[in-house]
Amino acid sequence: MALLEVKNLVKHFVAARSVFGRPTAFIKAVDGVSFRVEAGKTLALVGESGCGKSTVSRLVLRLIEPDSGSVSFEGRDLLGLDANELRAFRRDAQIIFQDPYASLNPRMTVSQILTEPLALHDLVPPQRRRERVEELLRLVGLEPRFARRYPHEFSGGQRQRIAIARALAVEPKLIICDEPVSALDVSIRSQILNLLRDLQDRLGLAYIFVSHDLAVVKHIADRVAVMNLGGIVETAEAQELFASPRHPYSRALLSAIPVPNPRAKRSRMLLQGEMPSALNPPSGCRFHTRCPYVIERCRVEPPELLADAAGHLTACHRTTELPPSEAFVPVDGGFSPALERLVAAFSGAAEVPVSSGVGIVGAMPPAAV
Ligand SMILES: Nc1ncnc2c1ncn2[C@@H]1O[C@H](COP(=O)(O)OP(=O)(O)O)[C@@H](O)[C@H]1O
Ligand code: SF4
Ligand SMILES: [Mg+2]
Repeated sequence: MALLEVKNLVKHFVAARSVFGRPTAFIKAVDGVSFRVEAGKTLALVGESGCGKSTVSRLVLRLIEPDSGSVSFEGRDLLGLDANELRAFRRDAQIIFQDPYASLNPRMTVSQILTEPLALHDLVPPQRRRERVEELLRLVGLEPRFARRYPHEFSGGQRQRIAIARALAVEPKLIICDEPVSALDVSIRSQILNLLRDLQDRLGLAYIFVSHDLAVVKHIADRVAVMNLGGIVETAEAQELFASPRHPYSRALLSAIPVPNPRAKRSRMLLQGEMPSALNPPSGCRFHTRCPYVIERCRVEPPELLADAAGHLTACHRTTELPPSEAFVPVDGGFSPALERLVAAFSGAAEVPVSSGVGIVGAMPPAAV
């Protein structure tokens, strides 16, 4: 049994109302998302900004209610939990955010920040709490004497360590990491990623690791789900997804990797057009306005996310007709140094001059090869 199972989650936000208050336009932030997370493993949720990743995170934690669909944790539907069970779930599933500064109360010392969840869930008797705070600080690589300090006295990386310690205080089984290193300097990122991986090994944690950054995902994911405009277009084991991407969107992301061997034959695939808005998403396959393989059927019929025998899921009408994936990935497959460069292009989307306003398009080479 999976630790977490999400089935067909839907969440539409009202974007406009008539003068009578009737909703007239919806943002289809999450539109039929399903996935599983195994205990002790990491599922990465990857996609461009605005594709619905944070909304999925909030739905999973029941911080917001879905319009439809279900979330079950250890086999139990979250919507059916009574107050006590929901409290227990709030212990088992934690979240850390991109900006630790915003999520830490500036008027509380680190000791107070870490004691609060211990007291709230009555986990440790009052006389042992100080000791537990020190243990937590050591666990995340901070010195116990830091307990007396305030959040503003720390660097960004240290603050993220404090946020991780606070999440760990309640001994969770699942932590949702929503862009946890996106605000950190590149040099600090790998330290925090290593810490998360190390904690996973030691404590058996499961993660949902949300990122727009393929580089980050590569370091931490067991499985990857690629999201586009409120829906998952492809899910596979991380190695498999990087080596044999099937969905044209995943391929477009990966095809920006420079080829390590210049004699290797490879096609590049350029995305056409602007990324459409979740306010008025395209009919049929939501990728059809940008997909070079689009056929009439794609414009009218949304493709289902279908699995092969190995558990690689793809949502595309033309999966079996597309060119083999070898043409789109480096000859050595998998996690090549070249991937690092793609990833830099993808993750640095905000800094890359973008003519079309879309990060990925901007990160693509100017002409097809
Ligand atoms: N509370 C809200 N009200 C209205 N629209 C929202 C709300 N939260 C998110 N959205 C919209 O839903 C879409 C998905 O947002 P989000 O889940 O934050 O994406 P991501 O985390 O992938 O960047 C975006 O178009 C965003 O503007
Ligand atoms: S369903 Fe059609 S438009 Fe969508 S990804 Fe596949 S080929 Fe492209
Ligand atoms: Mg987000």
